[in-house]
Amino acid sequence: MTPGDTAAPPLLELRGINKSFGPVHVLRDVDFTVRAGEVTALVGDNGAGKSTLVKCIGGIYSTDNGETHIDGQKVNIHGPRDAAHNGIEIVYQDLALCDNLDIVQNMFLGREKRSGLILDEPAMEELAAKTLAGLSVRTVKSVRQLVSSLSGGQRQTVAIAKAVLWNSRLVILDEPTAALGVAQTAQVLELVRRLADNGLAVVLISHNMNDVFAVSDRIAALYLGRMAAQVRATDVTHAQVVELITAGRSGSLGLQPEEAL
Ligand SMILES: Nc1ncnc2c1ncn2[C@@H]1O[C@H](COP(=O)(O)OP(=O)(O)OP(=O)(O)O)[C@@H](O)[C@H]1O
Ligand SMILES: [Mg+2]
Repeated sequence: MTPGDTAAPPLLELRGINKSFGPVHVLRDVDFTVRAGEVTALVGDNGAGKSTLVKCIGGIYSTDNGETHIDGQKVNIHGPRDAAHNGIEIVYQDLALCDNLDIVQNMFLGREKRSGLILDEPAMEELAAKTLAGLSVRTVKSVRQLVSSLSGGQRQTVAIAKAVLWNSRLVILDEPTAALGVAQTAQVLELVRRLADNGLAVVLISHNMNDVFAVSDRIAALYLGRMAAQVRATDVTHAQVVELITAGRSGSLGLQPEEAL
């Protein structure tokens, strides 16, 4: 850093990530930068490699090569625990919560607070309620409600609150609004924006361009496992992003023809 340059390094920076499943080369030399206080949309067609990329970030998959930097420091993430230790939490669309447990039980699953030998229910209840309130979530009546009784939007909200509870610095949401109606989508997107405004780094995977443009600061487009472009949302149009997704390039943006083959 040069004197006077106060720009902090990005929270997360991936460099040259490759990932294959046997003969299938899914991610190719992927660079990806995520900054605190911003929502970065990760877009791409079905099978482009979005979920694979976030699973690499979250330590679910190991990468074949490439580097991961957090706050400018090279790190090795060997599993979900390492990722959590580095403040990275992923909210998966389907696997996020257990239906037969209540909100508190879900939020503390596997990381329960204890008072001596017994579970410290009051402390967990209070912390769960405080976390939801801190995110201005008001539609959940009781933190002792079973998750099976929640709407899709409320479930996503609880899943996101769960990620936030663990001092996350980077929250990754894999298609959080895919199954939601209009009002619930708006509610989740508002929460996504609030997380970033609170200083977290947020990665949002979405196929919905309206959602992407509603909340994102930056847009990263994957095309057949390559990072076609990472741009400021204000620098591109919907049509350009759609082109990046479907063709890997749009005018001077994106992969060169020979790269996109
Ligand atoms: N465990 C795996 N074994 C083999 N191939 C896989 C595996 N996981 C993903 N793939 C392949 O990797 C490619 C990228 O898949 P991925 O799930 O990352 O795509 P995606 O961008 O998340 O797509 P979608 O928008 O449909 O969720 C696909 O061709 C898929 O078949
Ligand atoms: Mg996916």
